[in-house]
Amino acid sequence: MSAHHEPVLLEAVLAALRPRPGGRYVDATVGLGGHAAALLTHSAPDGQLLGLDVDPEALALARERLAPFGDRVRLVHASYARLAEVVRAQGWYGRVDGLLLDLGVSSLQLDRAARGFSFRQDAPLDMRFDPTAGGPTAADLVNTLPEDDLAALLWRYGEERRARAVARAIVQHRPITTTAQLARVVAQATRSGRKGMHPATRTFQALRIAVNRELANVERVLPQAIEVLAPGGRLAIIAFHSLEDRIVKHFLQRESRDCVCPPKQPVCTCGHRAQVRLVRPFPMRPAADEVARNPRARSARLRVAEKRPPEVTV
Ligand SMILES: C[S@@+](CC[C@H](N)C(=O)[O-])C[C@H]1O[C@@H](n2cnc3c(N)ncnc32)[C@H](O)[C@@H]1O
Repeated sequence: MSAHHEPVLLEAVLAALRPRPGGRYVDATVGLGGHAAALLTHSAPDGQLLGLDVDPEALALARERLAPFGDRVRLVHASYARLAEVVRAQGWYGRVDGLLLDLGVSSLQLDRAARGFSFRQDAPLDMRFDPTAGGPTAADLVNTLPEDDLAALLWRYGEERRARAVARAIVQHRPITTTAQLARVVAQATRSGRKGMHPATRTFQALRIAVNRELANVERVLPQAIEVLAPGGRLAIIAFHSLEDRIVKHFLQRESRDCVCPPKQPVCTCGHRAQVRLVRPFPMRPAADEVARNPRARSARLRVAEKRPPEVTV
């Protein structure tokens, strides 16, 4: 585990989820167990936590870190895309008091060169959160996708303005098998980055999102996250880039409204009912001192919602 790992926006997550004795908490991206340990500490002596992660290496470290909490913790190797099923299997469906999604990549994954997430260390181009699941690696994508598809992927998931030039350079230099090789090809193709940013940052982000189907998984988990909560239960979501945050924002905005008909429609025909209350209208950002201690927190945004009680019809 990275000695410098610090859970992002920890105090804000605790304030949002309000852990208490006897409560049931789900950390659907348990990672290295930082947030989970704090939720367990603050719900002592008998609060319980269910942790999910797709990365077996992260889960092993979380298991070690959370061992002092004994049988108050259950850890499951599963994608949060299957959240409802996993929570149901634990008998917690509709009974969860607080749920955390800390999206994206962990410091462990970035620091372990062999995982192939980072352009700062040379390693085979892999980037799978779950290397046991099969599925294409980043190397498979860069070496097999047609140039146009590669450009579209870099544009869509990396918001890379020079997507066409990068895709062309990648195709010209195939096969590309290592992180350093890819970083070099991208740097040559772009010849610049945004100030302070490595020129390959956006390409690496785009490939990681595509390899792990991150945006599709976020879209799948959001409705399930509300379903599994008890009335009054809270949902805290930390996103690290605008694509993810936009999905979360639009979903929560929609689910906090009673009517989602087009604004110009004079009479409501949708029958939609608000399922959540937004705890804050705007996302929380880390304070300057947190960013100074932990630069990875720089782009984090936390959104919090509370499940509304069911409507009583008479
Ligand atoms: C930012 S880290 C979480 C760090 C954690 N909050 C902590 O305090 O250590 C995100 C984690 O989510 C995991 N992850 C990514 N996609 C996932 C998915 N679909 N299902 C479950 N976990 C996932 C990653 O493997 C990674 O460990």
